[in-house]
Amino acid sequence: MSYGPDQILKGAEGTDYERYLRTSELLSLQKGPDTWKHRDELLFAVVHQSSELWLKLCTAEAEQALDYLKRDEIRPALRLFPRMMLSIKYCHEALDMLEQMSPWDYQQVRRALGHGSGFDSPGMNSIRKAIPGLGIEFTRLLAKENIELLQLFVRHTEFEDLYLLAEALVELDERMYLWRSRHFKLVERSIGLKVSGTQGTPVEILARLNSFTFFPELWDIRTEITNYAVAQEGEN
Ligand code: HEM
Repeated sequence: MSYGPDQILKGAEGTDYERYLRTSELLSLQKGPDTWKHRDELLFAVVHQSSELWLKLCTAEAEQALDYLKRDEIRPALRLFPRMMLSIKYCHEALDMLEQMSPWDYQQVRRALGHGSGFDSPGMNSIRKAIPGLGIEFTRLLAKENIELLQLFVRHTEFEDLYLLAEALVELDERMYLWRSRHFKLVERSIGLKVSGTQGTPVEILARLNSFTFFPELWDIRTEITNYAVAQEGEN
């Protein structure tokens, strides 16, 4: 163990930066050239592992936001939503890197993956589990204010925090949708649509997941708002 005068943390690595961030452990988590089936395994691993980290952060922020909402503290919860959105956006943007891999080279990488499938992504599964709880709290807070959803949108300036929460939930839902459709296009570009994934799931099943939404009522309300406005015009 070496501690220079300017290094104060305990640990085997040479600097506090490496000790705190545990960089040697982190950077040993990717296979090296000696075990690669193809050199793009590094690109594949970096995108997936970094996505898992962003989704870990996203889930932690969602769980904290949920705790705030359970205590009726909407504002501190709202401050955490941009962190969730950005985490999902970074996962979305990272998919660009995978398109740098040729479809043929991906077939070589794929041989190393066993039955590994995105269905088993801990990050995606944990954020998908956390998001509905936020919606449940929103519905509870709506009932507590004794206001119907349509009226929340019509009288949004009177219920600023609750309205911002409704819009934050919509944005979160939208970001998840955007990731899913971007991923779907990536899959089509990498392996095609009329094939099966590493666990034997036909890729066409992913197309059905594309229309999934966490908060259908927050999307349906847009139609109601339009109809309400049209009905009001009719009255005048
Ligand atoms: C070249 C890159 C990729 C390919 C070819 C690919 C392919 C696939 C395929 C074929 C499926 C269907 C299920 C299966 O059989 O595995 C799937 C599902 C999934 N993949 Fe990927 N994937 C890629 C990158 C990623 C990345 C970077 C993530 C980030 C975590 C990811 C997350 C998921 C998730 C969560 C599912 C479950 C279905 C869904 O949520 O839409 N995939 N992927």
